[in-house]
Amino acid sequence: MKEISLYVHVPYCNSKCHFCSYVSHIKTEDLIRQQSHYGDYVEALKKQIRAYLPSLREKGYGVRSMYFGGGTPTSLSTDQLVDIIQTIKQNIDLSPNYIDTTLETTPENTTNHDFTRLREAGYDRISMGVQSMIDARLKRLGRCHSTLQVSSALERFRQAGFDNINVDLMIALPDETNEELQLNLEDGLKLGTNHYTVYMFVPTPNTTFLKKMKRVYTEEELCDKYFLARNIMENNSFKENHWQYFSLDKRRCISDSTYFSLVTEWLAFGSTGNSLLQNKVIMGPAHHKDFINDPLRPGSVYAPSKSKPYLELHYSWAIMSERGLDLKIWEEMLGISFQNGMEQSVEIDAWHHYLKQHGMIKEENNKIVFVDSNQRTKYACKRLAMTYDMSAINQFYNQYSQFKPSNASSLHWVSQNHGLQVQGA
Ligand SMILES: C[S@@+](CC[C@H](N)C(=O)[O-])C[C@H]1O[C@@H](n2cnc3c(N)ncnc32)[C@H](O)[C@@H]1O
Ligand code: SF4
Repeated sequence: MKEISLYVHVPYCNSKCHFCSYVSHIKTEDLIRQQSHYGDYVEALKKQIRAYLPSLREKGYGVRSMYFGGGTPTSLSTDQLVDIIQTIKQNIDLSPNYIDTTLETTPENTTNHDFTRLREAGYDRISMGVQSMIDARLKRLGRCHSTLQVSSALERFRQAGFDNINVDLMIALPDETNEELQLNLEDGLKLGTNHYTVYMFVPTPNTTFLKKMKRVYTEEELCDKYFLARNIMENNSFKENHWQYFSLDKRRCISDSTYFSLVTEWLAFGSTGNSLLQNKVIMGPAHHKDFINDPLRPGSVYAPSKSKPYLELHYSWAIMSERGLDLKIWEEMLGISFQNGMEQSVEIDAWHHYLKQHGMIKEENNKIVFVDSNQRTKYACKRLAMTYDMSAINQFYNQYSQFKPSNASSLHWVSQNHGLQVQGA
C-alpha cells in the first residue's frame, strides 16, 4: 500500500501571541473572534476532503499519519472536530503502518471539549503549546492561559485515555536568564508527558515581540542555551531525536520523519497548507475566506525543483533530522538531484560547503548527516543568529558559495515545524 500523511489546517486562535511565527502573516481581525466562520470553514474542509481522498484511495493510498494544526484546531467545537475526522475516515483507509493522529491545542482551549469523544473518534495524540511554566512570562508572551490551566488540561487528556502527549516549551526568549530556562524546563518535565518540543525562539517580522526587542542573542549564547536545555532533557531520560524534539519512549513526533525526512507524500486541507504529491507542490489560498468561498479551486501548483525557497527549506529540515538528507529520497520526492539543487540555490551551496569545510557533516550510505548532534546545534544556532542580518548572510554566501548571491534570504527557514507553511515559496 502506498502511504500518505494528511494535514488539516485550522487558521483560528484565541489570541495572537506576541512571538508567533505561524500566524504573523494573518491580520489579528482574521485570526481571533472568527466563530461566525467556523461552521463554513468546516463545511469547506469536508467538501475538499470528499473531493480529493476517494481518488487517492482508488490509487491504493492509505493514511500513515494525520496532523491537525494551525492556528489552534481546538478553536473548533468537539462536534466539528469529530465531523472532520469522520469525513476523512469515510473517504480513505488507514495504512497497516498507521502511526498517529495529532490534535494541537492550547491549555485554555480544553475546558469546552469532550476529549473522550475526540479520543473515540480517532485523535490519539495531543500536542499542547505551553511555552513557559512561569506565569509572568506567559503574560509577556501574550498567551491567554495560566500554568494552573496546563495541569488541569493534562488531567482532562489523561482521563479521556490520551497517553501520547507532546508539550511545546520555548527557550532563548528575550531577557531569559539561565535560571529561568532551567526552571521552565524542570517544571515542564514535572508535567510528565512522553514528548517535549523545546523551541528556540525565532524573532519573527510582524510580531509584537520583534518590534520591542532590544538585542538578539549571539551564536555562542544560543548554543549555550540549547546545550543547557538538552542536558536538562537528557538528564531526565529524554532523547533528542530531531533538533529540539525530545522523546521518552519510541513514540516520536511524526513531523520529524514525514516532512523533515520526506518519508511520505502529504496532502494538506484548508487555507495556507501546502501539499507535496507526485513531485508537485500544491498551495492552498492564504486567506480563510477565499478557502471558504471556493474550497475546490485548484491551488497554485508548481514543481518543487523550480522553487528555490522550497528546496532551501527542505535542505535545512532534512539535514536537521536524525536520518539526515537522503540523496535518493531528495531526488525522488523533489524531482531534482541534490547537486542540481546546489546549483540552483546559493544558500544550499554555501551552507553545504561551509559544513563540509568545517568537518561538521559527513556523507555515508548516500546520506548527508552531521558528525554529531553538537555540530547540528552549532549549525542551527549560527543560522538563527544570522536570521535577519542580511549583510552577514550575504558575506557568508560570498565566502562559501561558488555562485553569485541573488535575492539571498534566510527568512523562510524559520518556518520549522510542520512543513506546511512555506514562507516565500
Ligand atoms: C503551530 S504553533 C502553536 C500551536 C498552538 N496554537 C499553541 O499555541 O499552543 C506550534 C508551536 O510553535 C512554537 N512557536 C511559534 N512561534 C515561534 C517562534 N517565533 N519561535 C519559536 N517557536 C515558535 C510554539 O512553541 C508553538 O506552540
Ligand atoms: S502560538 Fe498558537 S495560539 Fe498563539 S498565535 Fe501562534 S498559533 Fe495562535
